[in-house]
Amino acid sequence: MSSNTRLQHVGHQGNSGGTNLAELLGVLSLATDLGMGQPMEHMLRQCLIALRLSERMGLDESDRGVVYYTSLLAWVGCNVDAYEQAKWFGDEFVLKADARLVDFTGPAPAMRYMVGHFAAGKPVLERARLALAFLAGGHRDGEVMLENHWRAVDDLMLRLGLAQGVRDSVGQTFARWDGKGVPRGLGGEDILIPSRLVNLADVVEMFHRTAGLDAALTVAAQRAGTQFDPAVVEAFSGEAAALFAELDDVNCWDAVMTANPASDSRLTDDELDNVLEAFADFVDVKSPYTIGHSRGVADLSEDAARACGLNPSDVTLVRRAALVHDLTNHVHQSQVFRN
Ligand SMILES: [Fe+2]
Repeated sequence: MSSNTRLQHVGHQGNSGGTNLAELLGVLSLATDLGMGQPMEHMLRQCLIALRLSERMGLDESDRGVVYYTSLLAWVGCNVDAYEQAKWFGDEFVLKADARLVDFTGPAPAMRYMVGHFAAGKPVLERARLALAFLAGGHRDGEVMLENHWRAVDDLMLRLGLAQGVRDSVGQTFARWDGKGVPRGLGGEDILIPSRLVNLADVVEMFHRTAGLDAALTVAAQRAGTQFDPAVVEAFSGEAAALFAELDDVNCWDAVMTANPASDSRLTDDELDNVLEAFADFVDVKSPYTIGHSRGVADLSEDAARACGLNPSDVTLVRRAALVHDLTNHVHQSQVFRN
């Protein structure tokens, strides 16, 4: 089943098709890709790279399960604060897409990245005014962004019943081997191995897709010991050609779903409703204008479906569809601030 077909399938009447949590997270990862300025299946391919590396490095089944779910969830928080990103930086898609191209070792690259993207697309005077406002107190927005980012993602994982190991690993998504990431000071082998694998897989997937195998090998080597765990880089470098060739030969969606090391049981109807409500609340956090929007649409749609005389299973279908109707509608937040 292709990714697009799967997008149409989820939320289908009842759960007789037997949807499981991994499939729903797979759909969320596709939407997350779009919000990050990446093509769909970036996170699925990242998941396969991290998972296959974890097999080659001899991680046990439990750890591979954490790698699997961490890969599918690592970046979903990047869209939680899209409104604030657009407020300060203009085009948040470009901001996030460019982040993978930058080696943030040392203060200079980070400064160039910030200055290069700050109020992008606005006139010079407007950029200067926003810069002063940012320095005068807007930087607190940045702190709040990060705080809300992790609060929203962790709340989502808690509501989905994900293991503490997954929650801890996703919480280290921005950690660096040299300890200069977030959380600040967390480095080396104190970073959970799933986070170290996903960190590398994310970047090499993009470099391989956009510039080829040599570019992926080069960026891994350049950042070994700074952003990346040198042992993970070594394992990757020895297997990279075969690993990417494997990826290019498979249907990514099917490969990820069959690679799930955990034995996900099929969700009951109540569990499916719970996941879709959690997704609805999570997606609405993207903008202060949409908080509670999806639940409101679901309530209205459910009432309308009943008023139209639909049978109970169709009423359920309408409510579920309404809960996730904005999942892939990643409004370009920068447009809010353009006029
Ligand atoms: Fe909507």
